[in-house]
Amino acid sequence: MAANDTSVIVLAAGKGTRMRSDRAKVLHRAGGRSLIEQVIRAAQALKPAQLVVVVGHQAEDVGAIAAGLGAQTVLQQPQRGTGHALQVARRALRKSAKFAIVVPGDAPLLRTQTLAALLDTHRRGEAAATILTAELADPSGYGRIVRDSEGRVQAIVEDKSATPEQRALNEVNSSIYCFTLEKLWPCLAALRPNNVHRELYLTDAIALLRQRNERVLAEIAPDPHEILGCNTRAQLADADRVFRARKAAELMDAGVTIYLPETVVIDPEVTVGPDTVIEPGAQLLGKTRVGARCQIRTGSILHDMRVDDEAVVGPHTNADSSHVASHAQVGPFARLRPGADIRAGVRVGNFVEVKNSVLHEGVKAQHLTYLGDATVGRDSNIGAGTITCNYDGVAKHHTAIGSRVFIGSDTAIVAPVRIGDGAYIGAGSVITENVPADALALGRGRQVNKPGWARARRAELRHAAHGKAKPRAKRRAPRRKKSRRR
Ligand code: UD1
Ligand code: CA
Repeated sequence: MAANDTSVIVLAAGKGTRMRSDRAKVLHRAGGRSLIEQVIRAAQALKPAQLVVVVGHQAEDVGAIAAGLGAQTVLQQPQRGTGHALQVARRALRKSAKFAIVVPGDAPLLRTQTLAALLDTHRRGEAAATILTAELADPSGYGRIVRDSEGRVQAIVEDKSATPEQRALNEVNSSIYCFTLEKLWPCLAALRPNNVHRELYLTDAIALLRQRNERVLAEIAPDPHEILGCNTRAQLADADRVFRARKAAELMDAGVTIYLPETVVIDPEVTVGPDTVIEPGAQLLGKTRVGARCQIRTGSILHDMRVDDEAVVGPHTNADSSHVASHAQVGPFARLRPGADIRAGVRVGNFVEVKNSVLHEGVKAQHLTYLGDATVGRDSNIGAGTITCNYDGVAKHHTAIGSRVFIGSDTAIVAPVRIGDGAYIGAGSVITENVPADALALGRGRQVNKPGWARARRAELRHAAHGKAKPRAKRRAPRRKKSRRR
């Protein structure tokens, strides 16, 4: 697809007033990437001779993304319109460039093959300009393509300057063009700011080319979505929806089951193996990799996760930068924070939080637990409500739990501490010292039973309430007196 004689110019200097944002429009995100990144990636795959991004508003941030993707930048300051942006871009273009493809930074859905087809039409038609157009049911806001009686493009008329008849036209300008540069430059120099915004409109160059009897072609985009410009939050949401649908369709084609795909959010770099089932409302984000035959259940949010084959991620699990090995089950309502390493066959149940910890094969931590900075050996059972107290207010400390350990419910393990293989911990313990292998550790108050105490206490309270004298009782219930043993 290499295009040695063609440069790509991305227009990304505008503020994006209609977005009502402090951030430049092209920094907003759709489909898991900033708009500018989406556009640059689509253009880059064409392998152009040069890729120049015109920056202006928040030039540093936009420029950093462009540079990170290997694009060149040129500064347009102040921003005096799309025509002016191209005048500025000219400075950065190599003399050898014959054609330029122009794309706006706010049309993220554009596909590489569409650009390639546009360039092909332009070359074969020996045109001075070829415009990518689209037919929209609602063309409002876009520039309209005005054709003459023989169907040849005459001009582009901006929405604001259009007559009622022109406004009724459904064919719109995408702002994606291919130009033969030697024909374009004289027309750019002739642009005048004769419009409400006092800007130099690139669109006016089309009429100027036609006045010089140059050939102007229009190619209608096969998919009108592709030209969607994100000027407003509503259009941003539309673009995001299209990206998510594309990604879901791609995965379904590759053998992934997705129920209610319109409700799932899957970032572009995510991979999912065949026969995995993704339920409604799941989000797979960042560089998440999910294996084959997994279940990603409803409402789960996975970010930069690795989930191996046949693992189950239960409903409403929230997991980040962690690993869930094959046949492991986490959730519902599990929280995996960075560095959780959940090995094969492990079970992590509801309201269990794991951070920077290894849970070796066969471990069970099923309910209401926090495991942080810990290692848990094979087949150990972590009772409900177990907490590793890993933080002393200053530093984090490690907890080492051996294999086949049984931790009773509601145990607090005050790190740093080691619990040997096969040990038992009594429920409700606070463990502050190492526990030898195969030992029983109890770290809690000893239980005291006082027979009949409750019955006597009830009788006393009843009499007090009825204003009667106290009955003679052999065993008086204790008042809160200093001398009573408790
Ligand atoms: C533009 C077209 C319109 C077309 C629509 C398609 C013009 C005058 N109008 O309108 O015909 O239907 O796109 O989406 O071209 N930019 C700069 N420097 C500037 C001004 C803008 O780099 O001085 C950049 C913006 O950052 C943006 C792109 O050019 O990425 C398009 O500008 P925008 O203001 O969005 O133009 P529209 O009003 O959408
Ligand atoms: Ca726009």
